[in-house]
Amino acid sequence: MPLPSLARVPAPPDAILGLAEAYRNDPRPNKVNLSAGVFVDETGKTPMLKTVIEAERRLAASAATKLYRPIDGEVAYRDAVRDLVLGGSHEAVTSGRALATQTPGGTGGLRVAADLLRQTGASETLWMSEPTWPNHPQLFHAAGFKIRTYPYTDATGRRIDEDALLAALGEASPGDVVLLHGACHNPTGVDPSPELWRRIGDLVEERRLLPLVDLAYQGFGDGLVEDAAGLHELVRPGAELLVSTSFSKTFSLYAERVGALMVIARSAADANAVQTHVKAAIRVNYSNPPAHGADIVRTILNDPALRPQWEAELAAMRARIKDNRRALVAALEARRIPGDWGGIATQRGMFALLGLTAHQVAQLKEEHGVYVVGKGRINVAGFTPDNLGTFADALGSVIAAAG
Ligand code: LMR
Repeated sequence: MPLPSLARVPAPPDAILGLAEAYRNDPRPNKVNLSAGVFVDETGKTPMLKTVIEAERRLAASAATKLYRPIDGEVAYRDAVRDLVLGGSHEAVTSGRALATQTPGGTGGLRVAADLLRQTGASETLWMSEPTWPNHPQLFHAAGFKIRTYPYTDATGRRIDEDALLAALGEASPGDVVLLHGACHNPTGVDPSPELWRRIGDLVEERRLLPLVDLAYQGFGDGLVEDAAGLHELVRPGAELLVSTSFSKTFSLYAERVGALMVIARSAADANAVQTHVKAAIRVNYSNPPAHGADIVRTILNDPALRPQWEAELAAMRARIKDNRRALVAALEARRIPGDWGGIATQRGMFALLGLTAHQVAQLKEEHGVYVVGKGRINVAGFTPDNLGTFADALGSVIAAAG
């Protein structure tokens, strides 16, 4: 019996990527995939960005070696990512107390953060919003954290219950880790106001909590600078925090697994010390990072011609998502589907949460070939002129069936 008996019992499919797999195996021609957060164009394809194609052309022309990269990535990548989040003239940057590390995607950044914190004796309690991205609880649990939750939206699901959120975090103990979504909250699409970010910053400071910001969608909400403004409220003089970023969505580099973990410490000396622990955490996990995705990102971010072209490509993706939001609300209202849909038009990022029952979600999949996550999280970036009507009809039918 060399394998444990539990290993012979199949694990449940992943809440998001498991659905993507089921969708691929679904033979129905009119199936609609709104599961994983993946951008598609009007034709339903996820194209490569033009700047990515050009960066790859340049990289191929100059490729000379496949030597190991530094454990924490190339400096040109690490500095470009740090400046993208904080701005090159930010005090945390110029003082040297913010250091970024290349990681395999945003998930890799979160896992490295979790390992770093557990291996250096941080609090074992981590607070996350309820609801949150389904991979958050399982990832931090696997790394050894005890999970506590803070409430997020009110009963409408369209506004943050600020008092409940702050009251819950007020119970956190000094040193506890607080996971926050930097922008484009997944799954609700509802983000804190600037005032709420300020109040969260005050609370974090008063209670001496450690924020870990998951910033997987910088530029998909209102813009690159605008979407980092919330977390800037936390970067106060001497304040410490961690930020995990992803370029899966914003460079459409899903398969390249490219992201970063940034540690902002009290001082440059502290940051350099923490960096040695970041590298130790990586070495026992995946040893050192893959090169290609990070080479693409640093080429684009550091090139005076490619950089603005990429920002324009990002802006076009953002505009399409906003158009999709408005088109969705119009489609639901035109069919007079009962529900409070209007707010979806002004929410941010890829996701909206419809607040469906498990039965309705199963009906959508089984009877209509429509794939949505959890309690009805939909990837708004997945709508096309071809599938929007199919989705709206299917939603209307499962809501009508529930009476
Ligand atoms: C999502 O939430 O759909 C994306 O972040 C993809 C993933 O890895 O789950």
